[in-house]
Amino acid sequence: MKRTKVIDALKCTDFGSEITVMGWVRSKRGSKGIFFIALNDGSTIKNIQIVGEDQNFDEETIKQITTGACLRVKGVLVESPAAGQASEIQAKEIEVFGTCDNTYPLQKKGASWEYLRTVAHMRPRTNTFGAVFRIRHNMAMAIHSYFHEHGFFYFHTPLITASDCEGAGNMFQVTTKNLYELKKDEQGKIDYSDDFFGQQVALTVSGQLEGELGATALGQIYTFGPTFRAENSNTPRHLAEFWMIEPEMAFYDKEDLMDLEEDFIKYCVRWALDNCRDDLEFLNKMVDNTLIERLEGVLKDSFVRLPYTKGVEILQEAIKGGRKFEFPCQWGDDLASEHERYLVEEYFKKPVIMTDYPKEIKAFYMKLNEDGRTMQGTDVLFPQIGEIIGGSVREESYDKLMAEIGRRGMETEKLEWYLDTRRWGSCPHAGFGLGFERLILFVTGMQNIRDVIPFPRTPKNCEF
Ligand code: 4AD
Ligand code: MG
Repeated sequence: MKRTKVIDALKCTDFGSEITVMGWVRSKRGSKGIFFIALNDGSTIKNIQIVGEDQNFDEETIKQITTGACLRVKGVLVESPAAGQASEIQAKEIEVFGTCDNTYPLQKKGASWEYLRTVAHMRPRTNTFGAVFRIRHNMAMAIHSYFHEHGFFYFHTPLITASDCEGAGNMFQVTTKNLYELKKDEQGKIDYSDDFFGQQVALTVSGQLEGELGATALGQIYTFGPTFRAENSNTPRHLAEFWMIEPEMAFYDKEDLMDLEEDFIKYCVRWALDNCRDDLEFLNKMVDNTLIERLEGVLKDSFVRLPYTKGVEILQEAIKGGRKFEFPCQWGDDLASEHERYLVEEYFKKPVIMTDYPKEIKAFYMKLNEDGRTMQGTDVLFPQIGEIIGGSVREESYDKLMAEIGRRGMETEKLEWYLDTRRWGSCPHAGFGLGFERLILFVTGMQNIRDVIPFPRTPKNCEF
């Protein structure tokens, strides 16, 4: 079907030429024998105006041009007399591809986010979600572009796996077994030998461990794929199915890692400012009027690099000074989101890379510091979001890694392949994971992670 996209039609100055556009009616109004349609085809946040004279169309067609209806319009591109738009189309032919009656759920303006989640199959047709999903696409392109330009290889790690990378045990099991007739051994344990994979497996919580295999062969790799966590966290920042980007680099130390985290995130934010201007301006006007300022702010300064121990001191000072927090904050505690946000939004007023966490609150694979109590983690904390990146230098010493695995009482059986990286030609290496939806939250100014992925999966919610 030959058509001009609305984004191109709006830029075209070939006035007098014939043009065909296709799209969905955002609104229609009319007076004195003339009607005006705002048509949108998703290529841009902007609509193109269609002008038609009633006398040139049959009554039935005009009646069918309602909000949400899908049209093909052929007409002449003309300079627009109306302010705020360069061109419009004088309609000569209108075909209604799909009518849309008044049961269409997106008729009223100002529907709540909660309501729009119940019509997630239709909400991409709204201005806001159109903007969010175009930006989401752009961020995916920015990510591939960054790593490709910097000599990283896109490495595909499996989604079905037998290992729990983060050791948190919140995995979704994958099985073809008949759950009504589970075979058990003498101790009452489920026997997986007749299951599809012959062992207990689950959806991945992180591609990192396999990513390390890639990095210790190809030098620098990244993954970018779906990740699954069965954590029962009903928060505006957690999904059960989210996308994660995990670069892993051989011969990187903590400084190299922090430099990469900062450079990478700034590149993505700059990409949004350079490539998503119309959508950002719309979101800045309608959703959060400090958005563009905040994005530009992140580019200006260097991120603060703050050891965890120092961070806890600052928080305890604040508590002494009367600042109230819901959760306590002692050395050794996992910082709550309110603590992270205090440091980022109130104390430093810029992004913070927090480093060197107590080993008790971090995963087994992190490199232990000489103090024996902290690990070389490097999480990036962002305004509004809290943790956006979780990263670390990896423990490359076989003996130290085995000691930590032993201390945690982990089974090594299923990890032998991973330990081989430390057995043969082990090398210093590091990596991080960026939560894609958390990045999109930041870049769009949206408040809830359910509103930056087309079809969110959260506890008790797996619709569409
Ligand atoms: O901090 P996490 O758990 O780190 C890892 O998985 C490491 N293996 C990454 C690595 O070093 N290769 O998760 C990384 C990031 C978090 O900082 C957060 O942005 C995001 O993933 N994330 C989630 N996003 C949405 N919903 C959830 N339930 C998330 N859990 C983590
Ligand atoms: Mg983390």
